[in-house]
Amino acid sequence: MCGIVGYIGKKNSLPILLEGLKRLEYRGYDSAGIALVRDQRLIIHKKAGKVSDLISMIGNNGLSSELGIGHTRWATHGEPNDLNAHPHWDCKKEIAIIHNGIIENYATLKKKLQQDGHTIRTATDTEVLVHLIEEMYKRSNDLFTAVRLALLEVEGAYGILVISTKEPDKLIAARKGSPLVIGVGEHENLVASDAAALIHHTRQVVYLEDGEVACITANSFVTKTTHDEEIIKQVEEITIDLEQIEKGGYEHFMLKEIHEQPQSICNALRGRLLVNEGTAKLGGLESVKDKLLNTDRIILTACGTSWHAALVGKYMLEQLVRIPVEVDYASEFRYRNPVIRPSDVMFVISQSGETADTLAALREAKSKDATVLGIVNVVGSTIARETDAGVYIHAGPEIGVASTKAFTSQIAVLSLVTLFLGRQRGLSKEQGCLLAKDLSLMSEKIQRILQQSDHIKAIAEEFKHVQNFLYLGRGCNFPTALEGALKLKEISYIHAEGYPAAEMKHGPIALIDENMPVVFIVPQDAIYEKIVSNMQEVRARRGKIIAVANEDDNEIDHVSDHVIRVPRTYSYFGPIVNSIPLQLLAYYIAVARGCNVDQPRNLAKSVTVE
Ligand code: G6P
Repeated sequence: MCGIVGYIGKKNSLPILLEGLKRLEYRGYDSAGIALVRDQRLIIHKKAGKVSDLISMIGNNGLSSELGIGHTRWATHGEPNDLNAHPHWDCKKEIAIIHNGIIENYATLKKKLQQDGHTIRTATDTEVLVHLIEEMYKRSNDLFTAVRLALLEVEGAYGILVISTKEPDKLIAARKGSPLVIGVGEHENLVASDAAALIHHTRQVVYLEDGEVACITANSFVTKTTHDEEIIKQVEEITIDLEQIEKGGYEHFMLKEIHEQPQSICNALRGRLLVNEGTAKLGGLESVKDKLLNTDRIILTACGTSWHAALVGKYMLEQLVRIPVEVDYASEFRYRNPVIRPSDVMFVISQSGETADTLAALREAKSKDATVLGIVNVVGSTIARETDAGVYIHAGPEIGVASTKAFTSQIAVLSLVTLFLGRQRGLSKEQGCLLAKDLSLMSEKIQRILQQSDHIKAIAEEFKHVQNFLYLGRGCNFPTALEGALKLKEISYIHAEGYPAAEMKHGPIALIDENMPVVFIVPQDAIYEKIVSNMQEVRARRGKIIAVANEDDNEIDHVSDHVIRVPRTYSYFGPIVNSIPLQLLAYYIAVARGCNVDQPRNLAKSVTVE
């Protein structure tokens, strides 16, 4: 995720900014940059790559300034190159901005600003905002007011810092949906997206809330809402240490990422889900719309967790779009001389965008003239670049090796693709609206599940010593079962298998005795009764049952040893809510066994070899 740091005071800001950026590196980024105000000029250096590359580029040239901002970018709009790196500036190079988040209405704003004569050089959503501030500055002649007025026209999420050569004694900060904290020092103030960047200078902080804009000088700060009401903020003291800050106060990155899912799902859907029209708008697929609408077969290919998301995609696309879908392990696809026709559309799904097998499958399909599309997290990754078009999932960097938030975001994007294609191919507006409404509530549903962490932790304690686990589900939740089992084996080293529930009688039932816990994913849908029968079969053999069931299911306690409750949702989207408790269960079992959760043995986050 992008990182922000700003400084105003009597010291030279440059080393403070660069050190702050280094402390934000753990968040993942692809380019870095700084802007300083000196002698009524903006000095800007920015570069794709690491902070160390930026430092080498700046060199030891005695650059010094008492006001500056620094940024690490994790690309969302526009490739991760030097040009798109932050800071961005206005037409006269008087105002500079750094930004975390996504400006949803940037295309509309951009058009209007270009009509008004602004030259926009980059592909980012951020640059649009600095030109909007320039426009507002013409009206107000005051940077604080100009930023505030500009933000009133912005839809989306932001944490921003703005500086100007016209007002070299001010640093403006604003937040909506993307955190910012002011570090209060002696004759100096800092601002950062994350306390890790300022804790070495001060432990006195002020947390900005959504909708607040702050005007910060070396000795003071004033905070207002975007609607010009003044707010008195309390200074607090940070008591936690650096490592805790990096993990957002969580014990592990994996837990942090599990808890980020209400937000990452929002990021995947933001600006794309059209609830009132019951469809989705996917700018990234616009150029291949005709191909998509005319194809009579879709191929989904991926590895690992992403392959499980692909399986969910098959259920959704076949049922709602009525189009045949094939799902293939990328590693198998590349070597079996698959039948591919130029009319085929293939989606490759990858968190990292670098997985060697997935990349090879992509190239195989391309060489046979299929249209190849990406569903990728890391912007500018090889897969993102080599596909004909695609949709980013915007989950933010995933650091824990076991994938969590990327999985649910991949399914969210596949849901959007399904809605979009479904509505073009016969899905009624009425049904589209119901599905879209359900998706829009997903973040809140995930939040409710996360509140049950203690209950899930207690279940984990009971099962931490077992040798084997079975996960069973049907329909869309068969892939959920596979993913639940994969999470457990990846991080706890317990052998776990996922199966379609009805297949249990064809083999796994032989394993069931009092030592075998079985996780059933059992929402109250059309095949609920059938799964309950499978649960009875496990009970009859003294197996232990953990049920993931609906909040208002009053029957399930009779056939289960433990129940984890999840909100109701359309069955197609069930894997999003149902996988959250399975992630937590795996996590707490692994922690209870003393395993290295974030870096499990033998596994790699990005597998760039065959
Ligand atoms: C590795 C990771 C998994 C991931 C898989 C595919 O095995 O450990 O978490 O699901 O690669 O990675 P991708 O980046 O292509 O989604």
